[in-house]
Amino acid sequence: MEQIYRYVYVLAFLFLISTASYAQDASVDGPTVFVESRCYTCHTIKAQSTEIEAAKTAFAESKGVDLKEDDDDEKDESKGGDLSNIGAERDQEWLTDYVKNPKKFFKSDAKCKKLAKKKYRKRFKGSDEQYEVLIVYLATLKYGDMREEGFESCLIEE
Ligand code: HEC
Repeated sequence: MEQIYRYVYVLAFLFLISTASYAQDASVDGPTVFVESRCYTCHTIKAQSTEIEAAKTAFAESKGVDLKEDDDDEKDESKGGDLSNIGAERDQEWLTDYVKNPKKFFKSDAKCKKLAKKKYRKRFKGSDEQYEVLIVYLATLKYGDMREEGFESCLIEE
C-alpha cells in the first residue's frame, strides 16, 4: 500500500514540474508577452527586432492566424514610439504604474488629447506572471534612443 502512495507522490511531483516548466516555455518571455499583448501594434523595439519578429511568427503559428490583419493598422505603428531605451529612461516602478494605468500620464493639449483616446491607453490584461515578465523585460531595454526623428512625447513628465 505504501508503495502506491509513494508512486502517486512521484507522479504528482513529476506532473507539477512538467506543468511549471511548460508554463515558462509557453508564453512567459518578454518578447512573447509584448507581442501577445499587442504592444507591437503601436510600439517598436528596434534594438530587439529579431526577437520581436520571432515572437510574432511563433504567436501567429500558435494561433493559426495571420498577424497581417493587425499590421494593416499601420498608422498606429509608431504612435507609442520606439521602446529600445525605455529601461534607461524609466524605472520599474514607473513602468508598472504606466502599464497598469496609462490614462493619467497623458498631457491634455489638443494633439495629445487625441492620443489619449481610449484605444491608446488600454490597460494590460494578461496574467500577473506575464505582467511581471513584461515589466522586467522593458526595464532591460537600454540600447539608446531609437525613436523616429521629431517624435514628441504626449506624456506628462513625473
Ligand atoms: C493603441 C496603441 C498602443 C498600444 C497597443 C500600446 N501602447 Fe504604449 N503607448 C502608446 C502611446 C500613444 C504612448 C505615448 C507615447 C508618447 O507620446 O510619449 C505610449 C507609451 C508607452 C510607454 C511610455 C513610453 C515613453 O516614452 O515613456 C510605455 C512603457 C508603453 N507605452 C508600453 C506599452 C506596452 C508594454 C504595451 C502592451 C501591453 C503598450 N504600450 C501598448 C500607445 C500604445
